[in-house]
Amino acid sequence: MASPVGGSTHPDEGERIDPWSSRQFADYQRLFDRFGIEPFDPSGLPQPQRLFRRGVVFGQRGFSYIQRAIDRKEPFAVLTGLMPSGYMHIGHKMVIDQVRYFQSLGAEVFLLVADYEAYATRGRSLADGRKIAIESYLANYIAMGLDPQRTQVYFQSSRTAVRDLALMLGTKVTWATMRAIYGFGDSTTMAHAAAPLVQVGDILHVQLERYGGPRPTLVPVGVDQDPHLRLTRDIAAAHRMVNITATADGRLGVFVRGDERITELLDAAQAALKGAGYRAFERNDPYKALYLTGVAPTPAALLELDVALMPLERAFGTFPFFPPSASYHRFQTGLTGGKMSSSIPASSVFMNDSLEEVSKKIRSAKTTGGATVEEHRAHGGKPEGCTIFEMHQYHLVDDDRALDDIARRCRSGELLCGTCKGEAAEGMVRWLKDLQERRPVALERLPEFLHEDLSGG
Ligand code: TRP
Repeated sequence: MASPVGGSTHPDEGERIDPWSSRQFADYQRLFDRFGIEPFDPSGLPQPQRLFRRGVVFGQRGFSYIQRAIDRKEPFAVLTGLMPSGYMHIGHKMVIDQVRYFQSLGAEVFLLVADYEAYATRGRSLADGRKIAIESYLANYIAMGLDPQRTQVYFQSSRTAVRDLALMLGTKVTWATMRAIYGFGDSTTMAHAAAPLVQVGDILHVQLERYGGPRPTLVPVGVDQDPHLRLTRDIAAAHRMVNITATADGRLGVFVRGDERITELLDAAQAALKGAGYRAFERNDPYKALYLTGVAPTPAALLELDVALMPLERAFGTFPFFPPSASYHRFQTGLTGGKMSSSIPASSVFMNDSLEEVSKKIRSAKTTGGATVEEHRAHGGKPEGCTIFEMHQYHLVDDDRALDDIARRCRSGELLCGTCKGEAAEGMVRWLKDLQERRPVALERLPEFLHEDLSGG
């Protein structure tokens, strides 16, 4: 369906990420250079799941908050959303694999159904959205092994706190910003324009008292969602009373916001930081600034200050949010070449496909090997960018040495595409058969995950 967003008419089109477009974003380097996404370093993760080990999760914003929580065994949340417009396929599985890994490290998980967004941007009724979400996504998510004690599932349309935040935090963003980020224009409907704010509400509401209080929150996404993460991080920062930065002359500065009680606030900040072990301060009350002298403004120091000052803001009556962290994963190449997409059935393995269909799709996938057996034997294949290699890499082969072996035999021409596809088909069918068997029981357990949402909280 054509999106009402006027992205294609905007001169910046090439530089914008449109979350509602079906285009594949291929240039990952550009994401670092132009959009400021930072590389993801998995070396601090305990027994990282394969998607982290293999660079499939390649980028992040603000992951240091999550790393710190993991290191100190402090609470953190992980939140992911699904759009009940298309059906669940193995691309969506990757997010749940990551979520389960973080849950194993103690994260509290929030799984939301973006039924408002599907209504506002795809014209999907709430009732249909609910049905698709439950049958196609949630049953599979639960069958994949999430812990109901530490997972909340909710629908955007039934969480008042999400709507409240969407409206209230809307005070922190102007139309000019929304236009610049999303390319919204005169023909954008107000419901569509509100969808990103609802997502801001999703991401930040988990830090409200009722949902666990301020704590680091990770949102694992594909890069198409980055605009929403940038918006949410900006809004969270705009909502803070203190802003901690490295100043141009290399000092660490704590700047407070507001018109009243500035001296009081700076006094409190200074006392809090003294309590946290900092010693040398310089004050500039007219500048609303407190400088720490003798502390190098490293990212780690900024992070510690930020955490130390959080309780102070609450004492002053505003509600601070940790900036949400994001991690970005690569998209799997479609079985037909191009993009893996719900709108191209042959491009992906869907959770509700029959086992025969899955086997057939994988066996007829487009690979990067030679056109003929002779050519393949002579020149070998290219595992990079091959949908079948990615099937092994992302989903099927957990042993790194076994995966390296597949890559090596592919490159040398020893492993033929037919054999490789056969193995992938068998592996995927086995996995899916097992999942499908567990699905009916998983579906019955859904109420355990819905908590308050059954009563419309
Ligand atoms: N916009 C997301 C999508 O298109 C769905 C979504 C809504 C979401 N709220 C979210 C994803 C919060 C992550 C976090 O798939």
